[in-house]
Amino acid sequence: MINIALPKGRLGDQVYRLFASIGYVCRELGDESRKLIFEDEKTGVRYFLVKPLDVGIYVEQGIADIGVAGKDMLLETQPDVYELLDLGLGQCELSVAAPNAYQEDRESVLRVATKYPNIARQYYQNRNREIDIIKLNGSIELAPILGLSDVIVDIVETGTTLRENNLKVYEHIAPSSALLIANISSYKFKQQAIQTMLNALLRILKP
Ligand code: PRP
Repeated sequence: MINIALPKGRLGDQVYRLFASIGYVCRELGDESRKLIFEDEKTGVRYFLVKPLDVGIYVEQGIADIGVAGKDMLLETQPDVYELLDLGLGQCELSVAAPNAYQEDRESVLRVATKYPNIARQYYQNRNREIDIIKLNGSIELAPILGLSDVIVDIVETGTTLRENNLKVYEHIAPSSALLIANISSYKFKQQAIQTMLNALLRILKP
C-alpha cells in the first residue's frame, strides 16, 4: 500500500486527476464527500486529504510515503523530505506587492502582511531590511489597503486579485509549482512502488 498526502482543494483535485490517469484510482475520491481518507485495495493506494501547509509534515513523519505540495509551502515549512519531481501544476510566483501608489520609506520599519512569515523573514533578512511581520490567514491583499501593513508577501497566480484591488508586484521572490515529495525512509523501503509511479508520471509529463 502506498500512502499519498494530497493538498485539499483545487490543486489536490488536479493532482488526483493526474494520478488517476496513470492508474492510481480511488473510486470514491472525487465524489461529493467529507471523507478525508480514501483507500483502494485493488490499486494499492491510500490517499489522505490534508491542508496544503501540512502535506510536508505528513510526509516528513512517514504517515504518508509521498505527497504533493506547492514549492511555496515547502519553502515556508522546510520539511526534511526528498523533492522528486515538479508536476508543473499550480504555477505561481511568490512576490512582494503593494498599492500602486506605494513609495518605500527606507528609514522606517517595513510592515509586511503575509501567510508566509518564514519566507518573508528570510527574504528581508538577506536584504538587511528591518521588518514587522503581520501574520494573516487569507485575504492578504486587504492589509495594505486598510493600512494594516505597507506591503504583502504572497503568491500571485493570474494577478487578478492584485489588479482588482489596485495593488501591483514590486519584487519577485521565487517561482512556485506543485512538487512530488517523498519520505526519506519510504523512498528506500518502498523504492520500487515509488519509482514505478515516478516513471509513469515522467512518461505523461514529458512525452
Ligand atoms: C491566493 C493568494 C492571492 C490569490 C492570488 O489566495 O493569497 O490572494 O490567490 O491569485 P490570483 O493572482 O490568480 O488572483 P487564495 O485564493 O488561496 O485565498 P486566501 O485569500 O483565502 O488565501
